[in-house]
Amino acid sequence: MVSVKVFVASLAPYAAIFAVAAPTTTTGELEERAALKAQASIYMCSGTRWTGTCRNVLVNIDECVKVPNGWNNRIRSIRNDSKAVYRCTWYTDSSCNGRAYKNQEDANLSDGDGHFDRSITTYSCQRK
Ligand SMILES: *[C@@H]1O[C@H](CO)[C@@H](O)[C@H](O)[C@H]1NC(C)=O
Ligand SMILES: *[C@@H]1O[C@H](CO)[C@@H](O)[C@H](O)[C@H]1NC(C)=O
Repeated sequence: MVSVKVFVASLAPYAAIFAVAAPTTTTGELEERAALKAQASIYMCSGTRWTGTCRNVLVNIDECVKVPNGWNNRIRSIRNDSKAVYRCTWYTDSSCNGRAYKNQEDANLSDGDGHFDRSITTYSCQRK
């Protein structure tokens, strides 16, 4: 009996450590799971100023994603609708190579240097 009490007493400090550590781990795991499911909402149009054919796509976070079928080198206006949380980069080439552009909302991709007008092929979005 005495030896059991000593054993339990010697574990008590560890139990206290685990009690503190466990919630931290759980929160971290939950955040990780949420991050795995996280998607940014991207709105794109075949015309400038949100005209022509438009569509929304959900883009997984932290992945290089191709524009939808039929949209390669077609987009003339693009924006992300997940403004508060994610930042996306638009690329002219496959596999997120080529020129990169981070303007999160561009109603007219042909103004400025125009390099991205009808040129976006892939994009990737990250948590800010
Ligand atoms: C969307 O745009 C806002 C404003 O520029 C930016 O802060 C945010 O990071 C962008 N989100 C995505 C998904 O790119
Ligand atoms: C888009 O930008 C180009 C180049 O500056 C310009 O010629 C065109 O009129 C603009 N389109 C719209 C709809 O604003």
